[in-house]
Amino acid sequence: MRRIPLAAGGSLVALWTLALLFLNADPTRSETAATGAWTAAEWAKASRLSPLPPPPPNPTNALADNLQAARLGHRLFFDSRLSPHRVSCATCHQPERGFADGLQVADTLAPVHRHTMTILNVGHYRWLTWDGARDSLWHQAVGPFESPKEMGTSRLYVVRSAMRYYGRELSQIAPLPGDWDLLWPSLPETGKPGDASFDQLPAAHQDAVNQVFVLLLKCLEAYERRIVSATSPFDRYVAGDETALSVAARRGFQHFVRLQCDLCHATPLFSDDEFHNLGVPSGAEPDLGRASGLLQLQQSRFRGSGPYADGPPVVRSEDYRAGEALIGAFRTPSLREVGETAPYGHNGEIATLDAWLEHYVRVTTSSQPTAVGRLDPTLAPVEVTAQEKRELIAFLHALSSDYASEWTQTPPDVLDALSSK
Ligand code: HEC
Ligand code: HEC
Repeated sequence: MRRIPLAAGGSLVALWTLALLFLNADPTRSETAATGAWTAAEWAKASRLSPLPPPPPNPTNALADNLQAARLGHRLFFDSRLSPHRVSCATCHQPERGFADGLQVADTLAPVHRHTMTILNVGHYRWLTWDGARDSLWHQAVGPFESPKEMGTSRLYVVRSAMRYYGRELSQIAPLPGDWDLLWPSLPETGKPGDASFDQLPAAHQDAVNQVFVLLLKCLEAYERRIVSATSPFDRYVAGDETALSVAARRGFQHFVRLQCDLCHATPLFSDDEFHNLGVPSGAEPDLGRASGLLQLQQSRFRGSGPYADGPPVVRSEDYRAGEALIGAFRTPSLREVGETAPYGHNGEIATLDAWLEHYVRVTTSSQPTAVGRLDPTLAPVEVTAQEKRELIAFLHALSSDYASEWTQTPPDVLDALSSK
């Protein structure tokens, strides 16, 4: 090791050499520990995780990037008049709670078996919901509308109320089925497949209702695609702002890479958009996750290769086969804004980020079988000290952003309509 001369005389050359050493060499782990400075390899990983680009196109929805459709979708999202029980999407996806609800599991009309996911950055996923039972954002929205536990409404009720409040706008966005103006006021007030009021309609009328329902869903997608994270401290640091991350958060990123969290929390979304079994303790009812979600998707008429999708069929969900590895597997959630969306896991069983890391250490180091299916084989045993845990959490918080925009507010006319009821 080179001796650092303390005396001023003749030491300039030595100091210069030392400075060069620091500038050029890739610092080793012990050298960077104090400052949290990243190695070249860590910088390379970081630059694959930032910045977050705009969502990719969705060819199954011709309205996906239509501004007028997004404006209508914005109102539909916040308008509780689409449900006879006055529940809106925003009842559970609350802008001020990271577009989630802060509850363990969603509970409006009755408790659901899953934790409410954020809709921030959802335009990036190919598979929607924890088990990927939906393959587009517009397809996803059928679920909460018609679930008796969530909004307790039906496509006839949604279509009729939307025509009453937004019919003129909708007709400006896309052509409505022939004779629709005459048809819709004569339709039953409520009903969905499985209800006599819907099933007894002539097939052509059922199809017309489905078409208008799907247009509304596609407007909702156009809106949701605009709910995106802003630049986070992590992004600012990667872009060159050295003050953006604390030393703890920088070190937290180093742990994130060392523990291979980025195997699954890959890409600038911090998700591989795939399904893994993380051994999350199951509640009263075991949840099969992807194994059941895939079958549900393959049977849905609203899937990307079904009759209501625009463009050529893009996601051939029919080609996927359910195997044992899918049992108890759930989609990797994005970690952007994760600090805002506690509790955690598909069933919200895990209250805090600290408890999540405890869980992760426990499942990767224990030989206990998991509650449902088998632990993902790529999970390596992980040990973290209390300090490393704090640093990892500091890093995860650095993935939060100020995402507020005109799109995250209740639209003024909806606010007026709801308060004057
Ligand atoms: C009762 C609360 C509740 C209501 C109301 C609700 N959601 Fe959700 N949302 C959830 C829950 C719970 C999940 C996870 C569902 C699952 O995995 O089965 C979810 C998942 C989602 C997802 C998937 C996110 C992802 O990352 O895959 C989207 C998108 C979404 N909801 C949009 C909507 C829209 C649009 C509406 C209104 C039509 C709506 N939600 C109404 C609770 C709710
Ligand atoms: C094998 C893939 C994989 C690896 C590796 C992985 N995760 Fe995850 N992560 C997931 C999946 C899948 C879930 C959701 C599991 C569930 O709810 O059943 C998840 C959930 C989470 C959550 C909860 C998010 C939420 O919204 O509920 C956090 C936080 C998290 N992971 C952080 C990490 C960290 C930190 C590491 C590294 C120590 C890591 N993950 C490694 C796949 C992975």
